[in-house]
Amino acid sequence: MSGIYIHIPFCRKRCHYCDFFKSTDISQKARLLEGLKRELQSRAPELDSEVIHTIYFGGGTPSVLLIDELKDLISTINEHYQVAKDAEITLEANPDDLSQAILSALKQIGFNRLSMGVQSFSESDLQLMNRRHGVMQAIQSVKWAKKAGFSNISIDLIYGLPNQTIEEWERNVRIAVELDVEHISAYNLTYHEGTVFYDRLKKGLLKELPDELSLQQFEMMIQILKEAGFEHYEISNFCKPGLYSRHNTSYWKSQKYLGIGPSAHSYDLVSRRWNVSSISRYLDGLENDQSYFESEILSEQDKYNDCIITGLRTIWGISEDMIQSTFSPKYFTHFQKSKEAYLKSGHLVCTSGKVCINDAGLFISDKIMADFMVVESS
Ligand SMILES: C[S@@+](CC[C@H](N)C(=O)[O-])C[C@H]1O[C@@H](n2cnc3c(N)ncnc32)[C@H](O)[C@@H]1O
Ligand code: SF4
Repeated sequence: MSGIYIHIPFCRKRCHYCDFFKSTDISQKARLLEGLKRELQSRAPELDSEVIHTIYFGGGTPSVLLIDELKDLISTINEHYQVAKDAEITLEANPDDLSQAILSALKQIGFNRLSMGVQSFSESDLQLMNRRHGVMQAIQSVKWAKKAGFSNISIDLIYGLPNQTIEEWERNVRIAVELDVEHISAYNLTYHEGTVFYDRLKKGLLKELPDELSLQQFEMMIQILKEAGFEHYEISNFCKPGLYSRHNTSYWKSQKYLGIGPSAHSYDLVSRRWNVSSISRYLDGLENDQSYFESEILSEQDKYNDCIITGLRTIWGISEDMIQSTFSPKYFTHFQKSKEAYLKSGHLVCTSGKVCINDAGLFISDKIMADFMVVESS
């Protein structure tokens, strides 16, 4: 199982909370598309003997590309890679880029999953976040997508917004349920340095929601979504039975993936690599056959820690046998010691040799992961 991620580093406007790598200057679009195709072609040998099961166009805002541009990228992938017939092909899309005709065309050129950035069903939240779309536009896009034949739609929401009450968040979750989408990703707002929200926080113009309140919002969402038939399969992700994001799940299950485009990350089971977070340096490097990425070979400790961070976040958990058979004894000993402590405190469960964080543990998942990790300088 392997996947391809393509990073489209353009946005029409900057949202006040977002620190993903992107630019609002779209003047380099044509040159970037050539660069992406060149990278796709030159790196094909890395997945030579692999079948591609997932393709994910993320960003930034991939929906700023025209249908023909997206089609061209998909053709390049099909030309150089062995793509499974039933591959999951996802497009991250902003509601303001979508129309009934565009959605039908997206379906026609091969996309079978949409991940829409809705963020909130409150106009004032959307304005605060500097989103380009309104509430009705987001709802309409989901309805159009269904009409266009999409049967695997995900929406992104953000909770823990400044001044957001528990009732307001409940309203958001209930609207999401009514929309009858297959997948919901809900993230707790993070204040990243360099964003407008971070600056406003530092200047005292925004007030962070107290942890207890965002925790209550998280708890309430889990309850409503479970009652509505969603599986809570990863800390921030919920899906209708079986309809989890196959692409993101391949990250969490430590499978190979190729990251194409500026700032994209790749993993080949042995090393990690990350392309430069600069459109011009990425393109200059590619065009002049010079380096445009950095990489590192993973140590045993890195691999063990990756296993912890990715495995403990999902309902599939971590297999004790796998830890014992893959890593040196000291890692297994540390794993068992950490496991016992959290089994006793009621934050973990262990069923048929699989260790998973339970609902109580989810609220302190960062601490649990930190305790399971091994941090020793070499
Ligand atoms: C790559 S981003 C955005 C995709 C798309 N451009 C959009 O805006 O809809 C993926 C998701 O990360 C989430 N996100 C981004 N920054 C965040 C932050 N600071 N805190 C919480 N969630 C965030 C948003 O829900 C966003 O939709
Ligand atoms: S949330 Fe999406 S649209 Fe907004 S700045 Fe980030 S990547 Fe761009």
